Amino acid sequence: MTFRQKHLLGIEPLHPDEIRSLLDLANSYADQNRTSGPVEKSLAGLTQVNMFFENSTRTLASFELAGKRLGATVMNMAMQASSIKKGETLIDTALTLNAMHPDLLVVRHPHSGAVNLLAEKVNCAVLNAGDGRHEHPTQALLDALTIRRAKGRLHRLTVAICGDIAHSRVARSNIILLGKMENRIRLIGPPTLIPAGAADWGVEVYGNMAKGLKDADVVMMLRLQKERMDGAFIPSEREYFHRFGLDAEKLAHAKPDAIVMHPGPMNRGVEIDGTLADDINRSHIQEQVEMGVAVRMAAMELLARNLTGKPKGVWV
Ligand code: NCD
Repeated sequence: MTFRQKHLLGIEPLHPDEIRSLLDLANSYADQNRTSGPVEKSLAGLTQVNMFFENSTRTLASFELAGKRLGATVMNMAMQASSIKKGETLIDTALTLNAMHPDLLVVRHPHSGAVNLLAEKVNCAVLNAGDGRHEHPTQALLDALTIRRAKGRLHRLTVAICGDIAHSRVARSNIILLGKMENRIRLIGPPTLIPAGAADWGVEVYGNMAKGLKDADVVMMLRLQKERMDGAFIPSEREYFHRFGLDAEKLAHAKPDAIVMHPGPMNRGVEIDGTLADDINRSHIQEQVEMGVAVRMAAMELLARNLTGKPKGVWV
């Protein structure tokens, strides 16, 4: 087993072997989670603190369930209602929490880079649950596991990532991961939602769904991240659905066995047709949620194995 990281801040620092190791462990957890048998409490005696500075439904629930399943003591900090509102800085909040001696700190923050900064200030393992537009590593890993289980491999696949790439940390982490595993990546969206310089990322860029989806093995749809948009990026949601929303007709351009994915939350009728999203023959959206728990169990277990024996406390 090779996984040498102290934190999981992004996909960028991971070696392909580390990704494979993590996915192998997550895969065995995914199988175990489908049975009612007991799971080894590999996080027993450890404390996991979830600090979410941004709303979340599935990611928070998934980290909480993953920690509890492995026997950790799990605490959720309601950061919306916390001292942050009273003007405390991120670092002060982190140092306060650190003094409570967590072993695993799971952080979601609206600013890109905030989680990396925090990781420098605390002496526990930090997991990035999404920072601004930067990275969302456990999402890319759960997407990878979903793809690997559906397609039997995670290399030499054509993966189309469609929609609001510009504002998406999910897209960024997926592009890095799928690139490391030697897949062909296509980005599809209106020019306003494709980041400048995307063509230099080793991906193909399309402004047209029919062309971009041609012979794709995996079709990954993204939510329009309205909360990160300062201005009008699309003419209207109706027009957007017409051109870029995934429905059965557009999906017909992909391979007949192409799978449909979406990280959630979904805007039905905006980026994806509701009937298609619910079609269990094509849509793997529920499996993505299922794999999320398994991937987070694996990530926390691997980081826990690498915890040093240093006394807990604040770095000085
Ligand atoms: C994503 C996120 O928060 O970045 N959601 C998630 O974690 N499942 C994507 C999104 O919000 O659209």
